[in-house]
Amino acid sequence: MRGIRITGWGIAVPDKVVTNDDLSLTLDTSDEWIVERTGIRERHIGGTTSGLAIEAAQEALRSAGRTAAEIDNLVLATTTPDGIVPGTAPSVQHGIGMHGGAFDLNAACSGFVYGLVTAAGLVAVGSGPLLLIGSETLSRITDMDDRKIAVIVADGAGAVVIEPVEGPGSLLSWNLNADGSLKHLLKCEHGGTLFMDGKEVFRRAVRVVVDSAERAMADAGLGPDDIDLMVPHQANLRIIQAACQRLSIPEERASIVIDRYGNTSSASIPLALHDAITSGRVHDGDNLLLTGFGGGMTWASAVLRWNG
Ligand code: COA
Repeated sequence: MRGIRITGWGIAVPDKVVTNDDLSLTLDTSDEWIVERTGIRERHIGGTTSGLAIEAAQEALRSAGRTAAEIDNLVLATTTPDGIVPGTAPSVQHGIGMHGGAFDLNAACSGFVYGLVTAAGLVAVGSGPLLLIGSETLSRITDMDDRKIAVIVADGAGAVVIEPVEGPGSLLSWNLNADGSLKHLLKCEHGGTLFMDGKEVFRRAVRVVVDSAERAMADAGLGPDDIDLMVPHQANLRIIQAACQRLSIPEERASIVIDRYGNTSSASIPLALHDAITSGRVHDGDNLLLTGFGGGMTWASAVLRWNG
């Protein structure tokens, strides 16, 4: 049996910081409304999906002590590829100078957890070290004059190096879920901009996150008290708070970066994971609960025992 272990991490965000006050200059909104309804204070806007992914991947490789030549495969979770054809992952592969497989995975904001499980599957059938990246430029597909969505979206990337280990490894449990009958709730047609039924997404998000997280904990043989750190998708602070409350996981045990980064879709979980690791909140043997939801609808959770 071959399991996985996360051995390196990196992030990249565009230089340009846009505060709520900046948005209020052109939109009928306010810092007070945005903070109260979403928890977001500022976000980074700009760059390209491949460019941010390359930067995050290079930092992850450095932190793992790996060279690009040692990586077998690259999985890029994104819902905002540079183009339709080709995929964006080959550009990232070329940009960092690796050889081997590279492909895009679009599971919207659940993409990083879907990618983690995909990476574990590749390792199980023989892959060597992998790069898993979540990278997004949501601002490119957003009508920045639409206050309902412009205040939420952001750009950024997070990457991890995943290595094979003998034995079960870190991934204790996982579930991947989708319901295409709900695709109308959050969508972007070719050439169009993002549409979101915010209220309905909010209502369903809390329900599915709680259900999926509870199943992942049960499958890992753990209860809420055993979870040392929850790493949720950063869509709205109120969704994270409601999920924590229903799961009986204190909010202090969640990694929350939405105030600084906004909603970066598939990049949000690796951004929050990176923040927790680099601020010393993750220790060997800790149980981490990763959970995401998004367009599709898709939702997914995984429990990791940190480098166990
Ligand atoms: N600034 C000020 N007012 C705003 C606003 C903004 N940026 N956006 C909406 N409003 C107004 C609305 O027009 C509405 O006014 P009205 O009552 O006069 O009609 C009022 O605020 C309430 O709007 P509503 O859409 O009901 O707000 P909400 O409390 O549901 O918050 C979201 C909106 C988008 C923040 C919230 O629904 C949400 O976060 N949903 C989930 C989004 C999500 O998770 N998306 C990502 C999935 S991956």
